[in-house]
Amino acid sequence: MKIAIIGATGLVGRVMLEVLKERKFPLTELIPIASEKSVGKKIIFNSSEYEVCNIEDGLKKRPNIALFSAGSEISRKFAEKFAEKGTYVVDNSSAWRQDKSKKLIIPEINGNALTDRDLIIANPNCSTIQMLMVLHPLHKKYGIKRIIVSTYQSVSGSGVGGIRQLEDEAKNIQGRKQYPYPIYKNCIPQCDDFLENGYTKEEMKLVNETHKIFNDYRIKISATAVRVPVSAGHSEAVNVELDENFDTKEIIKLLQETKGIKTFAQANKYPMPIDCKNKDDVFVGRIRQDLSNEKALNMWIVADNLRKGAATNTVQIAELLIKNF
Ligand SMILES: NC(=O)c1ccc[n+]([C@@H]2O[C@H](COP(=O)([O-])OP(=O)(O)OC[C@H]3O[C@@H](n4cnc5c(N)ncnc54)[C@H](OP(=O)(O)O)[C@@H]3O)[C@@H](O)[C@H]2O)c1
Repeated sequence: MKIAIIGATGLVGRVMLEVLKERKFPLTELIPIASEKSVGKKIIFNSSEYEVCNIEDGLKKRPNIALFSAGSEISRKFAEKFAEKGTYVVDNSSAWRQDKSKKLIIPEINGNALTDRDLIIANPNCSTIQMLMVLHPLHKKYGIKRIIVSTYQSVSGSGVGGIRQLEDEAKNIQGRKQYPYPIYKNCIPQCDDFLENGYTKEEMKLVNETHKIFNDYRIKISATAVRVPVSAGHSEAVNVELDENFDTKEIIKLLQETKGIKTFAQANKYPMPIDCKNKDDVFVGRIRQDLSNEKALNMWIVADNLRKGAATNTVQIAELLIKNF
């Protein structure tokens, strides 16, 4: 079982290595791939040393599964080349998420949609994964009519560049900028580039990916994505309107019974990014009736964007491939 990680030196790639190790993923050979500047670097995995290679050399090694985490440009250029050689590709970038011929998978929600013909599989955006992990049981039981979400996204969501800018600014060092404005002691109401409709790409990912994963294009969704000076862990304030009446206690019970979610039932106990670091669960709290709409409720959802939002979900997809095909 040869596993390639494209972007093995990046934030997500490094967490993938940890997750593969923790979950005792049955790999026999690791092929760490990164940009030319990292070629030759050594990576220790399960007490063996592996040398980072470039993507062309990695392709020649014909891995069984390739976990892509090096940005959409690399995915667009290389994912199909790997698939042509029979490699299953799980892609963390946005390159294939809206491609009708590719599945967008959160294993707990639609993992059973995968077939052995799905050679390129898209991993959803981190903000989408954590939101849908919590909304899925609600959607199944009550039906979701409308979602209004505001995100509070950590700088790790922008890769090493985001962390570097926050740390440089905190130490008053002039360095390369990931964001158009200072992030230290600031909030930036822009994640990714703006589109013609005035929304950012990150905001539209929450809309389009929710429709595709739930296979329900009737749900109305409006998102505001904000970058905050938090090193890791994304938070989301979510207002969700259901099709049916509900009892808040029933919702809490339903979430408590759902695998992969940790629910805070008490009003004054709530999840925060500081507590979710390195954890695979999605955390939800502040669950309360919307006082302006009897069919709506508010909640606060937090997760480690590098774990369930990226690396863990990707590795879970790879595990499904091994189990089923
Ligand atoms: N961060 C998150 O929370 C998150 C969540 C979900 C999805 N994602 C997605 O995951 C991907 C990686 O994100 P990240 O946060 O890990 O970024 P990152 O820390 O900036 O890492 C980027 C990785 O890509 C590699 N790379 C760059 N150019 C390459 C090339 N030409 N060939 C091969 N490898 C190349 C880099 O190698 P060098 O070290 O050699 O430069 C590095 O390993 C992005 O598509 C991002 O949208 C990120």
